Amino acid sequence: MLRAYNDVSVPSFMYGTAWKKEATAQCVLLAVESGFRAIDTANQLIHYQEALVGEALKSLDQQGVKRNTLFIQTKFTPAGGQDHRTPYDPRADLTTQVEQSFASSLTHLSTDYVDSYVLHAPFSRRGLGEADWEVWSAMEALYQSGKTKMIGVSNIAAGQLTELCQRANHKPMVVQNRCFAALAWDKQIREICRAHDIIYQGFSLLTANREVLVDPQVQRIARRLDATSAQIIFRFAMQIGMLPLTGTTSQKHMREDLEAERIALSSDEIELIETIAV
Ligand SMILES: NC(=O)c1ccc[n+]([C@@H]2O[C@H](COP(=O)([O-])OP(=O)(O)OC[C@H]3O[C@@H](n4cnc5c(N)ncnc54)[C@H](OP(=O)(O)O)[C@@H]3O)[C@@H](O)[C@H]2O)c1
Repeated sequence: MLRAYNDVSVPSFMYGTAWKKEATAQCVLLAVESGFRAIDTANQLIHYQEALVGEALKSLDQQGVKRNTLFIQTKFTPAGGQDHRTPYDPRADLTTQVEQSFASSLTHLSTDYVDSYVLHAPFSRRGLGEADWEVWSAMEALYQSGKTKMIGVSNIAAGQLTELCQRANHKPMVVQNRCFAALAWDKQIREICRAHDIIYQGFSLLTANREVLVDPQVQRIARRLDATSAQIIFRFAMQIGMLPLTGTTSQKHMREDLEAERIALSSDEIELIETIAV
């Protein structure tokens, strides 16, 4: 378990539900059966089926897996990241959009709170504008109401994160970014997160770093530990303080990914992987 700066416990590995389409509910059931307790989704029909995550949560509840034993994270996706199926009135002001999207998430997920609510991306690539601050204030209000235990931000650049931490009433408890080995696994952002006691969640660890999976040095480490290259990457992520997401659809991979927690890489191996593509 990891602990956010506001004392919320967060499972150390998260199952991501993007691109699972109609298999979403079944994937969530398999993930929880395999041992995952944290699920990531978004109220964004282009990539996620949040309502099918909710279907899985209902089945799990019937099987005795209670809501409070799971960690559910979802996102507010601004209109630029949605198609015509926005889960809010796109002509409404941004505060209303966040409120409507959040209410729709609670309905989809059949719950009265979420564990983590994430802004899918700032409105522009550089700097934070008025729109970002309005959305962040609306998310802070949801946090203050207790309807989400944490708030966070995704796809954020270093300058934006620094600005957010400096000026927000509540700085993010989590940051979720795509993690490229070529950027030393998003080192700049990870360091800002460390300085502010923010949990860094890394996604596409495998799909964004296919060359690392087949790197002979990683394969040698995998052989030494009788593990797969994917397990080495996930364990590396955890040992450098990251919370990894996995997007697998295979139960074999789900189990293998969780078993990575038992592997121990040496400090030399961690150093090697950290700079392997830089
Ligand atoms: N915030 C954002 O903008 C954003 C963007 C993208 C993703 N995400 C989140 O991050 C999650 C993960 O992203 P991702 O799907 O790119 O992750 P990933 O875990 O890097 O990639 C999953 C792919 O790798 C394959 N794979 C092979 N061996 C695997 C193993 N041992 N474990 C896991 N996968 C293995 C999977 O195939 P098999 O199915 O055959 O295992 C699948 O095709 C998403 O579901 C979503 O929740 C967030």
